[in-house]
Amino acid sequence: MVDLRQPWSIGPVEIPTRLVLAPMAGVSVQAFRRQGRRFGAGLVCSEMVSCAGIEHRNERTLGYLRVASDEHPLAIQLFGSDPRTMGEAARMVEAAGADLVDLNFGCPVKKVTKTGAGATLLEDPGHAAAIVAAIVDAVEIPVSVKLRRGLRNGARDCLVVGPRLVEAGASSLTLHPRSAQQMYTGEADHALTAELVGLVDVPVVASGDITSRAKAQAVLATTGAAAVMVGRAAQGNPWVLEEILEGTRREPSREEVVAELVLFVRETVRELGERRASGFLKKFYGWYLGQGRFPRPFKQELVVLDSTEEVERRLIAAAPGALELIDRLEAEIPSGDDVTLELPISVYGGG
Ligand SMILES: Cc1cc2nc3c(=O)[nH]c(=O)nc-3n(C[C@H](O)[C@H](O)[C@H](O)COP(=O)(O)O)c2cc1C
Repeated sequence: MVDLRQPWSIGPVEIPTRLVLAPMAGVSVQAFRRQGRRFGAGLVCSEMVSCAGIEHRNERTLGYLRVASDEHPLAIQLFGSDPRTMGEAARMVEAAGADLVDLNFGCPVKKVTKTGAGATLLEDPGHAAAIVAAIVDAVEIPVSVKLRRGLRNGARDCLVVGPRLVEAGASSLTLHPRSAQQMYTGEADHALTAELVGLVDVPVVASGDITSRAKAQAVLATTGAAAVMVGRAAQGNPWVLEEILEGTRREPSREEVVAELVLFVRETVRELGERRASGFLKKFYGWYLGQGRFPRPFKQELVVLDSTEEVERRLIAAAPGALELIDRLEAEIPSGDDVTLELPISVYGGG
């Protein structure tokens, strides 16, 4: 049995547990990452951030670079295809306070791949390695890369490109062993993760279908990976992280579910503003309240409400005991206002 509570390192960055919270676009907001750390993830990661957006000082993109003091260790993930622009963006990630820069060489979405970024790089090892070298040159913090197995079903490109990235200076690799073509269908083939571990001398993180402690233990034991990454299983379910780490499966009470969701709502409103947050949060209601925790019509009621304040009122009415829990949690964790670091003006490019 691998001890999931044993610390490990990526370069000089010490990571307290062998559980990593996955980067997920449209999910991995600060509230998700802070909650993940609280429930035992040793490392959390931002969703992918566009280097072009950073270069053009796009306000929404720059918003992704805000780091809270209780998120560390934290990776900020970049996507792009031009080594120079990516190097610049990596410098801003470092200035923003991230512990690691992670590069996305796995995104299968057309909007990203058609620009030469994401999974396309798996078939161009020379260019992929040039990007890594440029970023390693640009920053002091370690650089990690997240890969898929290749573009097409059955591809093994990750085994060619992975070692090249390590030669170029990558300090860690994460493999989600599905092809881009597969998207999220079929199964993650962790036999490939084991092969990659045998080819490189840096820690490898295994991503894909880690949904329970048994699966986490099996993947760690059969691949030699340094850690496992949990993505979809943690959506609306931070308790799965506890389960994987502690080995005890515990269904949260209704009060706990409501308390975590209310905190999540409050913090997301602080981060995104009410207008963006109210749309963004709708998918989370289903994730938190599903799994047999609340009757289905309750979620339907919440998604049609106009404001998050009303959502909060309805949630608390459904589990009044949650209020005490919310107060306790808010007293224990630093408030979002205290922990959001403002970027130095130099990072925004001046006044
Ligand atoms: C909604 C969603 C968004 C994702 N966004 C990203 C992303 O921004 N960057 C990335 O490297 N992977 C992204 N992924 C892939 C996950 O990080 C992970 O590798 C994949 O979901 C497999 O792990 P799982 O089975 O634990 O979900 C995303 C996955 C999902 C479901």
